[in-house]
Formats: sequence, C-alpha cells, structure tokens
Amino acid sequence: MNKLLKTMSFILVGILAVESIFASEVNLYTSRHYDTDDALYEDFTSETGIKVNIISGKGKALMQRIRSEGKNSPADIFITVDAANLWKLQKDGFFQSISSDRIQESVPSNLRGPNNEWVALAKRSRVIFYNPKKISKMQIRKLSYEDLADSKWRGKIAIRSSNNIYNQSLVASLIANHGIEETEKWAKGFVANFSRKPQGNDRAQIIAVANGEAEIAIANSYYFGLMLSGKKGLEQKKSAQKVSMHFPSQTGRGTHINISGAGILKNAPNSSNATKLLEYLLTNKAQKHIVNNTYEYPVISVVRPNKVMSQFGRNFKEDQTSVSEYGKLNPDAVRLMDRVGWK
Ligand SMILES: [Fe+2]
Repeated sequence: MNKLLKTMSFILVGILAVESIFASEVNLYTSRHYDTDDALYEDFTSETGIKVNIISGKGKALMQRIRSEGKNSPADIFITVDAANLWKLQKDGFFQSISSDRIQESVPSNLRGPNNEWVALAKRSRVIFYNPKKISKMQIRKLSYEDLADSKWRGKIAIRSSNNIYNQSLVASLIANHGIEETEKWAKGFVANFSRKPQGNDRAQIIAVANGEAEIAIANSYYFGLMLSGKKGLEQKKSAQKVSMHFPSQTGRGTHINISGAGILKNAPNSSNATKLLEYLLTNKAQKHIVNNTYEYPVISVVRPNKVMSQFGRNFKEDQTSVSEYGKLNPDAVRLMDRVGWK
C-alpha cells in the first residue's frame, strides 16, 4: 500500500513538472491602445487557464520587432488596426493560416485575409462628420465619398494627412472600385476642397467642424463615440455634440469599412492557444465588451453596436470590398495621394 502511494505521488509530481514546463500561455503583441482590452484577456485566462502575456506598443514598432525577432520571436498573435498593416506582415510570410471552423463561420470572407491568415475582431467605418447648422439633412442624405470632389465643397473639408493609413486604405478602396485613373481625378478635386493643410488626428477633424474651421470632416466612427461618451474630456464631448455623423455612399456601394484584426505568427510557439484566444475574442461576450468600450462595430451580426453609435443608424449599408484590397493597393494609393498633392 505504502509502495503504491509512493508510486502515485511520484507520478503526480511528474505530471506537475511536465505541466509547468509546458505552462499554458499565449504571447500577444498588440497595438490596440485600449486599457479595456485587458479585462478581456483576464476573462479569457479565467475561462481557460491560459495566461496571456501582453506586449503592447505602436503598430509600426511591433511590426518591426516581429521582423527583427524573426524565427525566434515569442509572439503568437499580432493584433493591430487597419487591414493594410496585417496585409504587410502577411505579404512577407509572417502569418500562418488560422484553422478554425468557428472563426471562418463567424467572420465574413471580406473581413479575412487571403488564405485566412488574419481576421477581423471589430469593424470601424470611415464616415463624414458635418455641421448640421450649415448643411441640411437633405443635402447630406445621399452624399458619397465620390461627391466630395465636387467644387461646391471648395474650402470646406477637413481630413488628416496622407501618411495616415486610414486615409491610404480609403483611397485604396476607391482604386479597387474605380481604378487608378478615375480615383486620381477624384482625389484632385477632393484635395482642392480642403479647408486647411491636413493636420492633427481624426478627433481634430471633428473638432475642426465644431469650431467652424470646416463644414465637413472625414474620420473613423468610433472616435465620435469616444468623444460623445465623455471619455476624452468635457471639451471634446461638447465639440462632438455640435456635429452630426453621416454614413457616405448609402445609395451606392456603401460606407467604407476597415477593421481591428489579428493574425497568428508562423512560428508561434503556442499556436493552438492563439487560436483559442481568437475564438474567444469572437464570442458574443467578448464582442459585446469590445463594442461597449471602444465604440467599434461588432463582427458578429447578433451583437448590437453600443447605443452611442446605434443612434446614428444600426443597419447602414457597408461597402463589401474585401479589406485585403487595402494592403494590395496601398502602394498605388500612397503614390496617387502624393501625385495630387495630398500633404
Ligand atoms: Fe484609430
């Protein structure tokens, strides 16, 4: 009996030792700058026992780090914003195909990378903000991105610089739908309509409309939610309250959609845990948490956007252009913006 107990305890110690060598963990590199994401990772750990080691930083710096660490990188998952960033890493062979039926079933194909090497975790639209005192609902109702090249908007539009990837992806989506030549013609007219030299971030464009420096601005939808929620301070909340949001191109192609997304690294040491974490981030529970804290749109259709966002329309028409086009056409977009003098 004593011998049996001894043998059993040896086996138990052995199992524990093996377990501690293969500690259940996943290494996440993320450029999403939301503290609220941490609560998600903690919840994932409490559900699965898998520890999430987070390295956060700017997208460009993390991408550089992944490149320089190469095969020895401990990174399992890279999370970032804008599909064009994910495309850049995929192009250079840093990702592996994500094999999960659950992910493929829940994420529409236009929001996944080629060969399923990255997937959307949340959506954002790049929309028009306008001063409702200067522009009527009737005037704005049918407004598309394409219309913004019309000379009637001369000196009235605020948008950030062309080195911003959100703008590059917007232009890439126009190239995907109209070709380079037509998009270049459009961009010439559009740039001629700028109210000022491009400056500041997306929120600064919304503020420009509130201050009367522009009548129209283009910025990402969730910044408006953040401003209205008061999370960016009272001053910005007051600015946002003076401004209205419009989904462009509702009678045509639909409003431009971009993503927050993730890929699993080719040499991920914990790739099955990585798949589990991505599956978790696409559950109803996690999607609800994301939309309620960052004001992005859910990828899962049963989850509703946050109320702050849905007051402007819940079922707007989304452009179905594959977000992988943004990366493919990024060099064309950058060159085109340069040629038309978009600073
Ligand atoms: Fe952003």
